[in-house]
Amino acid sequence: MMYLAGIDIGTSAAKTAVYDLYGNIAAECTKEYPLYQPRNGWAEQDPADWWNAVCYTLQKVTAEINASEIAGVGFSGQMHGLVMLDEKDRVIRPAILWCDGRTAEECDEINALAGIDRLLQITAAPALTGFTASKIRWVQKHEPENYAKCRRILLPKDYIRFKLSGEYFTDVSDASGTQLFDIRQRRWSEELCSKLQIDPSLLVPAKESPEAAGRVSKEAARRTGLKEGTILAAGAGDNAAAAVGTGVIRDGQAFTTIGTSGVVFAHTKAPAFDSLGRIHTFCSAVPGEYHTMGVTQAAGLSVQWFRNNFAPEKSYAELDLEAEKLPVGSEGLIYLPYLMGERTPHLDPHSRGVFFGLSAMHKAAHLYRAVLEGVAYSLLDAYEIVSATGPQIDKMYMCGGGAKSRMWRDMIADVFGTETTDMSHGGGAALGAALLGGAAGGAYADLFQACGQAVKCGAVSKPDQNRHERYHSYAKLYKKLYQSLKEDFKMLSKLQREDGSAF
Ligand code: XUL
Repeated sequence: MMYLAGIDIGTSAAKTAVYDLYGNIAAECTKEYPLYQPRNGWAEQDPADWWNAVCYTLQKVTAEINASEIAGVGFSGQMHGLVMLDEKDRVIRPAILWCDGRTAEECDEINALAGIDRLLQITAAPALTGFTASKIRWVQKHEPENYAKCRRILLPKDYIRFKLSGEYFTDVSDASGTQLFDIRQRRWSEELCSKLQIDPSLLVPAKESPEAAGRVSKEAARRTGLKEGTILAAGAGDNAAAAVGTGVIRDGQAFTTIGTSGVVFAHTKAPAFDSLGRIHTFCSAVPGEYHTMGVTQAAGLSVQWFRNNFAPEKSYAELDLEAEKLPVGSEGLIYLPYLMGERTPHLDPHSRGVFFGLSAMHKAAHLYRAVLEGVAYSLLDAYEIVSATGPQIDKMYMCGGGAKSRMWRDMIADVFGTETTDMSHGGGAALGAALLGGAAGGAYADLFQACGQAVKCGAVSKPDQNRHERYHSYAKLYKKLYQSLKEDFKMLSKLQREDGSAF
């Protein structure tokens, strides 16, 4: 029997899954870890927690199969996170994550130093708080002693590769999210490193996602149960990996994923750009090709936040059942999901969550439904830009934890006016990572064979025209609310800075 393994370093947990060559799951294990928010808008994790979770999950899955039959291991990871290593490869400070919004000032500096037009040409985005470059400059400025100690900068999944193999690599899709990578040339941008005064020797070689990049070391084999010498694929950022796991590898194919963040993603053969940089254009996991994606920062996070704080005794399925009885529009309640600021379409780290239209007749179920709808409107914002920029999208695959909700999949079909196909039963990013591992280990000729063999589609939800129109009326007001509140969000952030509760 030949197997493939995928390791996904998510924001809430590490998931390790082993599949056969046909995408059937042989073993899987997930281990959660904490996210630290030392200040409002900050988000950090301890890379040691990722590594301990990976060791734990690998030990579990390798106990269930013969690890010497694993042809290759691939990675998927939360993107953009800054991991800094010193000369002895020790982690210098907690990793600063993709959803950390502390770097608004550094972004202004980056835009001024590099020029927004040049940034758009090289990285397809103006400076963004989520991306790695502004985090590096924040450390330079606020923790110069830590920057001085730094010898290597890694992204989250690449830290795990380093722990497994002792080797330093990244891949082109994840590197695209650093804002130091020239996405057309598929290599680090010397120009940006020099303009932003970031030492390029801190960056590690970037390979195409299905290429081999490291082998499991003896020490890591002892810690994890993997066989020494097992091939590691370069792997991909979580969304590029999820694209492989949902079979979105050809022009015009698209998926929406609802994890902590929510993403609308379309594969494009050639790079496609939004002139305002509201969506990202990144190198894809398919060698030489690209994808566009719009990101809403708090998708699953909004739902998790709501349940944890206001309905901890209920399951998501119970909450869905109650919310489904309510009409489109949650009886006049609209939620803006900007709990962590927003990327697509506003690129605004100061924005925050809002319930608009609260009335004494609203119950918890109204708030929950409004949260699902608000996230769907935010995904619609991304969908509209992604579809205006690239090739025609005629159906939407759905993956991530949120796609397990049939109600949410139906809602998104209605909001987008597009058929949605459930891919949540498949492994998503973990399966994509495993297929990259398989390609690197020679189990498949290429990703087209891998996806053709291993990716299976689930239930289809068809859009309903009446609901589609109704949702669009609410979405219009939803869009207007941000414009009305834009300056107020800035004012709130200023007040918090004065109080010392935000940076
Ligand atoms: C993508 C992004 C998120 C993270 C976490 O740009 O920031 O999707 O990768 O999942």
